Amino acid sequence: MEKFIVEKSPPLKGKVKIGGSKNSALPILAASLLTQESCTIKDIPKLQDIDIMKKILEDLGATVIWDEKDNVIHVQSSNITKTEANTELINKIRASFLIMGPLLARYGYAKVALPGGCCIGARPVDLHLKGFHNLGAEVIQEHGYVIARANMLKGAKIYLDFPSVGATENIMMASVYAEGQTVIENCAIEPEIVDLANFLNSLGAQIKGAGTDTIKINGVKKLEGAEHTIIPDRIEAGTFMIAAAITNGDIILENVLVEHLKPIIAKLKETNVNVEELENALRVYKDENTVLKGVDIKTMPYPSFPTDMQAQFMSLLLCGEGSSMVTETVFENRFMHVSEFKRMGAEIKIDSRTAFIEGKSKLSGASVKATDLRAGAALVLAALNADGITEISDIHHIDRGYCSFDEKIRLLGGKITRMKSS
Ligand code: EPZ
Repeated sequence: MEKFIVEKSPPLKGKVKIGGSKNSALPILAASLLTQESCTIKDIPKLQDIDIMKKILEDLGATVIWDEKDNVIHVQSSNITKTEANTELINKIRASFLIMGPLLARYGYAKVALPGGCCIGARPVDLHLKGFHNLGAEVIQEHGYVIARANMLKGAKIYLDFPSVGATENIMMASVYAEGQTVIENCAIEPEIVDLANFLNSLGAQIKGAGTDTIKINGVKKLEGAEHTIIPDRIEAGTFMIAAAITNGDIILENVLVEHLKPIIAKLKETNVNVEELENALRVYKDENTVLKGVDIKTMPYPSFPTDMQAQFMSLLLCGEGSSMVTETVFENRFMHVSEFKRMGAEIKIDSRTAFIEGKSKLSGASVKATDLRAGAALVLAALNADGITEISDIHHIDRGYCSFDEKIRLLGGKITRMKSS
């Protein structure tokens, strides 16, 4: 096990290149199961979650070549040998459930372990299964597995009770070969949905409406291969935007799509942090004499403020003037970082889904632990601005979602070292 040792750091300054989106790469890798032709996927982030998805595809019989130097994956699923996923691998990442839709679409059968909950919530998959059922599949759950089977999936109208990202992705993939038209209403409109639809259309699928609350998929007979570049990771970008703000720094983020960062940019500007849009880049800076204003945050599905930025933004609000309110509406248990912040001297009170934050918390270094990948990143951000030394354990959570996080921070002047935990 490893830990981060983080000291109060000078203003972070310089340039950081944002990697490809983890939450786009994972569904797109799963989608490569839909075709027997080879696919080349670029800007794949070097993350543990990607490595696990690669192993899952290989276990099913796919050929996956990962050129980590150039961040490219070549995948070919021409000789899939089984449609029952390896349980041990599946249990390592929740996104593995996204292979269900492609296997069901292509082979009419899939058996995948039911993903467990995680610390941020129960994370059920009922909406995924409702979609498969509406498409005509027989879906049963037994002994901790989900089994779905269908001779021929038929296009259907599916209304999602909640605009679930994963359910939208799984149902979209399940319907690409279905007879007739499938309409998914009240679907997720996150940028990662659009990226997946663009990838599927480049294979020859017929998908319209991605990015709106209604997606229409006309079933096709066959898909080809394709080359695709993953969109930049808006959450990694948001995390480094906070790193600039919290250290009174001045950072230029390269490889960003400003369009995807609007809710984060808007909130940061409300706190008096400067954000300047450059050509395919973003400059975020704050002068040490500018007062950081407390603001209220409410996480909601895109294009509202993203739940995956809640913990990181909270670390900034701890340093703001006055009080702030953070309401988490997407996951039922996504305040695990609060108790860790409190160990650093933060004044936060939680009342069900809202955290009340007293600003100007004199944060001081402490021993804390990462409870999930975004909470872990948030602790690093807070530690960059806390007096003394902070030791962050369980950093494997951070490595799941951030590529070379500590190296990128060191290059910007941050005092962070990675050590073996004793
Ligand atoms: C994706 O998870 C992301 N993961 C999450 O990012 C992100 O937080 C989440 O979307 C919301 O934006 C990936 O893309 C790999 P959901 P997903 O289905 O698809 C409930 C990170 O930090 N729900 O939109 O699992 C669910 O319980 C991770 O990178 C049902 O009730 O999210 C939750 O409360 C964390 N039934 C809400 O919807 C279902 O069938 C949002 O879940 C599905 C979901």
